[in-house]
This record gives sequence, C-alpha cells and structure tokens, in this order.
Amino acid sequence: MAKPRKNRGLVAALLLCAAPLASAFDDTQIEALITKMTPEEKAGQLTLVAAVYEHEPSDNERQPGEPTAMQRQLNEIREGRISAVFNGIGANWARQLQRAAVEQSRLKIPVLISVDAIHGFHTIYPVPLAEAASWDPALAERVARATAVEATAAGVAWNLAPNVDIARDARWGRGVEGAGEDVLLASRFAAARVRGYQKGGRLADDDAMMATPKHFAGYGGAEGGLDYNVVDISERTLREVYLPPFKAAFDAGAGAVMAGFHEIGGIPAMANSALLDGVLRREWQYPGLVISDYAADHELVEHGVAADDRAAVKLAFMAGVDMSMTSRLYQQYLPELVASGDVPMTRLDQAVRRVLRAKRNLGLFDRPYGRMDTAREKRFSHTADMRALARESATRAIVMLKNDHDLLPLPRTGKRLALIGPLAGGPADLNGPWTVFDDRHDAVSVEAGLRAAIADPTLLSVTRGSDIDAPLEGGIAAAVAAAAAADVVVLAIGEGEAMSGEAQSRTEIVIPAAQQALAEAVAATGKPLVVLLRTGRALALTGAVRDADATLVTWFLGAETGHAIADVLFGTVSPSGRLPVSFPQASGQVPYYYAHKSTGRPPPPGPLKEYTARYRELTAAPLYAFGHGLSYSTIEYSAPALSARTMPWNGRLKASATIRNTGPRAVDETAQLYVHDRVASVTRPVRELKNFLRVHLAPGESREVSFELSRADLEFIGTELKPVAEPGEFDLWIAPSAVDGSATQFTLMPPL
Ligand code: BGC
Repeated sequence: MAKPRKNRGLVAALLLCAAPLASAFDDTQIEALITKMTPEEKAGQLTLVAAVYEHEPSDNERQPGEPTAMQRQLNEIREGRISAVFNGIGANWARQLQRAAVEQSRLKIPVLISVDAIHGFHTIYPVPLAEAASWDPALAERVARATAVEATAAGVAWNLAPNVDIARDARWGRGVEGAGEDVLLASRFAAARVRGYQKGGRLADDDAMMATPKHFAGYGGAEGGLDYNVVDISERTLREVYLPPFKAAFDAGAGAVMAGFHEIGGIPAMANSALLDGVLRREWQYPGLVISDYAADHELVEHGVAADDRAAVKLAFMAGVDMSMTSRLYQQYLPELVASGDVPMTRLDQAVRRVLRAKRNLGLFDRPYGRMDTAREKRFSHTADMRALARESATRAIVMLKNDHDLLPLPRTGKRLALIGPLAGGPADLNGPWTVFDDRHDAVSVEAGLRAAIADPTLLSVTRGSDIDAPLEGGIAAAVAAAAAADVVVLAIGEGEAMSGEAQSRTEIVIPAAQQALAEAVAATGKPLVVLLRTGRALALTGAVRDADATLVTWFLGAETGHAIADVLFGTVSPSGRLPVSFPQASGQVPYYYAHKSTGRPPPPGPLKEYTARYRELTAAPLYAFGHGLSYSTIEYSAPALSARTMPWNGRLKASATIRNTGPRAVDETAQLYVHDRVASVTRPVRELKNFLRVHLAPGESREVSFELSRADLEFIGTELKPVAEPGEFDLWIAPSAVDGSATQFTLMPPL
C-alpha cells in the first residue's frame, strides 16, 4: 500500500433535488436520526481527521496491551466520534472503517472517506495551472472524471478539490493548484472540475465524489504573495475577482466548500460570518457543507481573535463552519458549548443535518460499501485510458512562448541532440506538488520521452549540468562540452516541484542562479537552444533563458511528462496551450495581471515616460501576455465584425472574426474575446476576457468564430457593490492574446 507523502494526514440542492433523489434515505429519516443522537455523537459527525494505518511509527512506542493507532481510530468510529477520514487509501482499508461505522456503531452512520486529489489520484495529470493552459474546460472535466473513477474505486467519496483561488501574484506558491489569474477562465475550470468529480450531479453513483471548492474566499490575495498571510482587498475586488469561481463551482453543484487559513480585512475566513453566512447562505442560498482547513479553527487563537481553543470553536462554528479538520476541537468542545448555552442546539443540528445530507446525497446510507470494492479498485486503477488521458492533457498544456527561425519542431533523425539540465531525468520533479498517492516511479522523464521518440537514440546525450539550486562540480564544463558536440541543445530547467505549492512562496520568481549560470554557459556555445521550462508559476526570464531560440513552458505535466514533451518537440502534436497567467519582465512587477486598471497616468506603450505609472527600469508590457501561445503554423485574424453597432439593453450582439491558418500545419487555435468599458462609474480593467473558443484549423483553412454578448457580459460591481451594467461605449477584441488584436466599438443602449 502506498503511503501518503503528505498524510496530514441552492444550486447544488436544486440540481440534486431536480433529479429524482437517488437515495431511499430521506430527510425524515435524517431528522429521526438527529433526534436520537447525543451531543457527543453530533460533534462526532462534525469531525474530520487524517487517516492512520496499520504499523504507524507511533505504534512502536505503545505500552503492552495498548491499542494501535489504527485500532484507536476504528474505536473512535465505533463510538461515533469521527465522521470522516482523509488521505487514507485502498478499498480494503476503507472497508475496515466503514464496517466499524455501519456495523459496529450505535447509530450506524456511514463514514465519509476523503482525499486531496488535486491533479489525479494514482495516475497524475498536469498540475491544475498547466491544465488551465489548455484553455479547454471540457478536458478538465474529463480529467476530473477520470480522477474520480480512480479515487472512488479506492474508497474515496469526497475530494478536497478543486482549488478555485484566483492567483495574481506569482510569488504565491499555491497558484499552481488553481487556474491562473483570470476570473472567466478560472470560473469555467472551476465548474468543469466540479462536474467531473461529481459526475454532473449523479453524486450517488459509486464513481462520483463530492467536490470542495477552496479556499473560501480571497486566499490567493495574500499580501506580498506570502502563503497564509493577511488578505486585505476591497469588497469590490472580492466580489468581482475572487468570488465568481466559487459561484461557478456552486452553480455546477459543488456539495462542500473549505474556508481558508487567511484573514480578510481583519476577520479570519474561519470566523467570517459576512462571507460564510452573508454571502454563502443568504445571498447564494448555498445548502451544502462548510468545512475548515487543516486545524484552522485552532489558528483563530494564533490570529488573535480567540483567547483559547474553546472560544475559537465557538467563533468558527457560529460563523458557519460546520465541520472541523484534524484539530478535533469540535469533538472536544461542542458538547460542552451546547450544554452551557454558548452554542444553540439548533445550530448543532443544522451542521449535523448538512453532513448527513451530504452522506445521503453520496448514496452512503444505501450503499455504504459501494466505493469499497477491491475488484473495481483493481480494474479502475492505472488504466490505459487514464494514461492516454494523462498524455493528451499534458500535450495540450504545453505553451510555446517563442520559436525563432522555426527551430521547432525538431527532426527525429539526423541531428545530434544535447539534453542538458537538472530536470532532464526523473522520477523526481515530474509530477509536481500536491500528489498524495501518486506512483512517481513510473512517471516518464524528459530523457525517456525523447529516447522513445527519436529514430537513433545514440544521437541523444544527457548531461545534468547543475542541481536545481546549486552548482554541480564540473557540471558546467560537461554541459558545455555536450552542447559543443551537438547540433541542438534542449535545456530542461526551471523549478523543482518543492518550489511551488503550499507554503512555497518565493521572493523572486526567477530561474535559480545555478541553472541560470548553466544556461548562460551553454548558450555561449552558440548552438541553437530550446528551453523546456518547468514551473508551477509565471517566471521572470532573463539573459540566455529569455533569449533562447525556442521556449516551451512545460509546467509539471505528471505521469506522461516525457512523452508529451516529445510529442510537441518533434511535432507529432502542434503546441496549443495558452498562458493562464501573464509572464512579467521582472519579479518586482508582481502582482502583475493583464486585466489591470488604467490609472490616471497610464504609461504609453513603447518607451518609458516620466510621471506615468511605470517602474524606472521597465516598460509596463509583459514579457509574455496572458493568452499568449504559439503553434507550428501561423494564424491570421480579421478585424472583429459586429452584427450591429449597438446592443439594445435587453438584446444581444454577435461579434465574429475570421481566423485563417496560413501555415503548413493543422493546429488548434484559441480565439479570445475581450472587452473594455470606456467610461463607467467605477474604473474598469483595460481588457477583460469574456469568452474564448478553441478551434481546429487545417492548413489553409479559414473559419469564422463568433460569440454572442448580452448585457450580463458587461456587468461589473457598481458603486452600491451590486452587479450593474451601464449604457455607453465599449471596445471589443477577438485576438490571440490579451495584448493583441485591433479593437472595434459598440454601444450598450439605455433601457427603453
Ligand atoms: C491545505 C488544504 C488541504 C488540507 C488537507 C491544508 O494544508 O490548505 O488545501 O485540503 O491541507 O490536506
């Protein structure tokens, strides 16, 4: 059994109620159950703990006769003190827990098995940020579905994903878990992932798992890009930027949500009744479960809003956090808080009701062992289909930033290739952060992928050159010699997987110095240079890395890394990814995102101008813009055409453009629709993505892409902090990136 590396262990209701309720266990039975429960059993239903295993190291310290950690956990389940367990694995392991719950506990309430399957379960797909670079939510839905099939076959019924935090500061390490900087793109991916995990609402099926968008809300806005740090954003920004992906996830039926570790505007998210009660429950009529992050209830003491754990529990629970993760503080304090009258029994019952409904919606009362079938587990682990999907999603995630003189694709034969860099091999650093049960030993390295793809493997030399963040003795000399002996250098550099993810903020978003030195030395040989850039965030590229002849952003691509890179490098597949985050010119520019405001002193494009909103050293332009990505063909865009110059208040407008493949290769092109509100009562971003479409174009083929817009697409958070649209002039682009294209104008007419 694999051991976790990280063993830390109205819409939903409408969706679920609209379909005939899959479970025979109805609300009346849930209420009957609640009346039978003791306060201790109720608190138990609100307790989520990390899994333990047979033969835990702590077992060695036990006195003779004392139970093992696993026996203790099973006993707690029998006593009704635990509702759910996370990051345990295997149908057999899960069956033991379920047996304790439904056969040996007083009330026979099924246990809920959960996991953090952020980008796959055993089979690892590209990190979520990479997947977002596909600009293909349907692909994300298929990956989430495949993840659910594999995880549920191993006992899981609940996923602590997707991460839907918008990330605009590349220093923040957790941007790798989300879908990038843009509100629309992130919202589409949030919804797609929820649909995939939850099987589009058929949650009671044995191969569906409940989704948990996280971390509610605004966690990605951490000051200085420092994980866990204070978030202090305006309510407008919160509503306009950070909340929409959550709303999209709930509209897609997400059954749970996780409150974040952070504070927002002085109130920790865990104690934030304006968010948890005001926005979630009242405005959005969200009927599902709210859970804490890892011991985040206790952290209210560290935040300094609760004097002790008892006060912390009261604060979090009364603010609306129904279930506590790992701290066991709800188990410890809730019965007594209810007895003393500090917490009303009605609130306790409400939270328990939500947990029981979630279990019911998952079909656990009817089929508690449905996801714990060893035959199914064998059949649906590591399937060939999953592996094929890992390769497909990985190829679609690769973004080609530049390709001077059409250096790529490389020929499979006749050229000597020098593969150089600390990220050439494996199995380390292929899968990326946030995998719990991955099988990293069978992830395909760049070296293995290239070897499998080229006609004559003796033409490939492999040299490490440096470590990820330290020079290797003789490394540069060996790399330079290898480069000198080759026709083309492929440099596999960037971040190790420990450099992004939770708690992995960086002060500078650069290539580590040892690798930069390696790149400079190799580039000085004058050999054509291809950079394969592995990263969990946007990077500020400089020197030889910036100036390479060709650059592919490969992120962390998971199990099929090497094959996917070879598919693109040798041209089996034309690159089709687009950046879901802007690449700035320098670290000092972050937070840096395309949908910024104009300011009163907008810097002109081109040369620096004094007394404008610019840094002394740099133009305001990105190194590579949001939405940018090249292919092995050339695509021409016509100017956008509009069905009319005006959009009636209650009407629609069609915007279209002809895109033509003028190059030699069939490619996928992603056309992006942007608008800009010229004059509004609240300042508006210089551009905002409103829609996009991926189209396949044969060589020479032209296609019209068209988008319909309505007033809803032009809404923003107005002066009263409510969504409004205002009549007036708009610019519109249909373009291959956030800085390309020519604008056309239309007017939103006032109501008649
Ligand atoms: C993370 C969560 C995760 C939890 C359980 C926390 O540290 O912030 O995203 O679900 O751990 O693994």
